Amino acid sequence: MRGSFGNSFRLTIFGESHGGAIGMVIDGIPAGTVIDEEEIARHMARRAPGNDPTATARKEPDRVKIVSGLFEGRATGAPLCGLIENTNTRSGDYAQLRARMRPGHADYAGSVKYAGYNDPRGGGHFSGRITAPLVFAGSIARALLAQKGITIGAHIAAIESVQDTPFDAVNVDAATLERMQESRFPLVDPGREEAMRARVAAARAEADSVGGVIECAAVGVPAGVGSPFFGSVESVVSQLLFSIPAIKSVEFGDAGWMARMRGSQTNDAMTYDENGRVACLTNHNGGVTGGITNGMPVVFRVCIKPTPSIGRAQQTVDLTTGENTMLTITGRHDPCIVPRAVVVVESALAIALCELMMDDASTKALK
Ligand SMILES: Cc1cc2nc3c(=O)[nH]c(=O)nc-3n(C[C@H](O)[C@H](O)[C@H](O)COP(=O)(O)O)c2cc1C
Repeated sequence: MRGSFGNSFRLTIFGESHGGAIGMVIDGIPAGTVIDEEEIARHMARRAPGNDPTATARKEPDRVKIVSGLFEGRATGAPLCGLIENTNTRSGDYAQLRARMRPGHADYAGSVKYAGYNDPRGGGHFSGRITAPLVFAGSIARALLAQKGITIGAHIAAIESVQDTPFDAVNVDAATLERMQESRFPLVDPGREEAMRARVAAARAEADSVGGVIECAAVGVPAGVGSPFFGSVESVVSQLLFSIPAIKSVEFGDAGWMARMRGSQTNDAMTYDENGRVACLTNHNGGVTGGITNGMPVVFRVCIKPTPSIGRAQQTVDLTTGENTMLTITGRHDPCIVPRAVVVVESALAIALCELMMDDASTKALK
């Protein structure tokens, strides 16, 4: 199992959904960095369960106890370790899942991979709960990026077929992204909220689930971050995004449409802006060309699949009897993962940008 990401901003996550605690160790936070625990709590609360009808009823305060690497409110330069207690587990709900594999979930693949020794309670280490440490690390990464004038924000771009207005990829600004962070259901057009919530409620009433799309942007990222091939911005950011359970696609800029367009339509025409800086008139490439940022907002979209644990009967296999069987899942689940995942996606981008900017010997942009 690979529990760590990064070289310069190195994050290790650990824990299981119903174990004693989950948590993280972060190496590479420059000594003296202010660790604003209120700001961390603000982002943790955006992901925490039990606060909205679109989310699981499991209530967890998700308070982080920092046990090392912090002195008088600042990072010491030693590894920063934090623990998040699991306080509200109902492991009995998962008893049947040791044998009966949930379709669409990690149960079968994980059981084969770890020879049945993986913790099945609440999804164990495969649980969406393990994204809480990502949000903690993302909060610290955001603080480092903010020192360089970089702001990150995301919104619910779609739930099922109900769409929000996309970001203006050329002009999206820090104020818009900060406004998104203030809502548990962030939308560019708040008028879409009712229709989206109705889709989640309808799926829940039918013991089913829905998925959707999150659009995320970073503004203030200077040109020159990243490198071609293996250290490309797209590959480093995507590695983290695809680490988030339930994310099934990532597309930068207008990637979803580019295959059907011509070069004359997808090239971003360039200009000197009123301050004499190089800018693009469009942003079809999502702020990245050649794996390197070009100074335009970094913009991408991710697809989140419908929650696999649904309440209606499904066909599956029983590994103890070796027979086909039916499974009706009980327990508490998110009927839609999308709203809680918004801050997780932002956090992945923040961590990736920190890693890219600290790791790049030619720019040392964050050092
Ligand atoms: C914030 C968040 C919450 C999640 N909540 C649930 C849940 O309540 N029930 C569930 O079955 N899956 C949930 N998932 C998704 C599963 O963890 C995921 O689908 C599963 O591990 C299989 O991985 P895959 O979908 O990436 O293939 C959640 C994911 C995230 C990011």
